[in-house]
Amino acid sequence: MRHAISHSQDDLKRQAAQAAISYIAPKLDSKSIVGVGTGSTANCFIDELAAIKHTFDAAVASSEETHKRLAAHGISVLDLNAAPRLDVYVDGADEIDQACNMIKGGGAALTREKIVAAAADEFVCIADDSKLVPCLGSFPLPIEVIPMARGLVARALVALGGNPIWREGVITDNGNIILDVHGLTIDKPLELEARINNVAGVVCNGIFAQQAANVAFLAGKSGITTVKP
Ligand code: 5RP
Repeated sequence: MRHAISHSQDDLKRQAAQAAISYIAPKLDSKSIVGVGTGSTANCFIDELAAIKHTFDAAVASSEETHKRLAAHGISVLDLNAAPRLDVYVDGADEIDQACNMIKGGGAALTREKIVAAAADEFVCIADDSKLVPCLGSFPLPIEVIPMARGLVARALVALGGNPIWREGVITDNGNIILDVHGLTIDKPLELEARINNVAGVVCNGIFAQQAANVAFLAGKSGITTVKP
């Protein structure tokens, strides 16, 4: 009897995480530092990473939640200031296009994710293949905002054609709030990323175009699809 292959969302996330492990494992050595993202797919990656923790030096976390999970597996976690160069950063995404531009921040960790990604030589994105889109923007764009600037930033986002909604009750690891911007068609991600960053009060926005992924492993019913810009 053939065993049924399960394609639940959780299985797909785990398969994407395993693909990332197969990709990075041969590149790691005892001095390597691995940047780790945040979210349910990143959690699968952390669980897989634990099995090869003896093959690299340490990790840098993109959130308090990720820090806790890494530490619980006995993986040594460094402050980014103690790790000037990371070999690789592995993280999920809310949306990704064929050029490996992404929307991130569904888990409100976008700022630290962007910082840790910027310190890494390579960004590996892992996701189930429902995250692959022809054009970014169906997923509401998360923006981390200094609390006192909420109204000011919201008005600027309306002027850009979006409909910002305050993610009430959510405070980021950095003590800020999140606005989720609906209704944007992000056909020029690099341009819009820079434009939103220029609004006073914006800490970071969830467009990852300046730091697009170098490679994405997207798990679907027929296996892993590798996307490269
Ligand atoms: C967190 C993120 C996550 O990578 C993104 O939300 C995807 O999460 P998940 O793997 O749970 O679908 O950007 O800020």
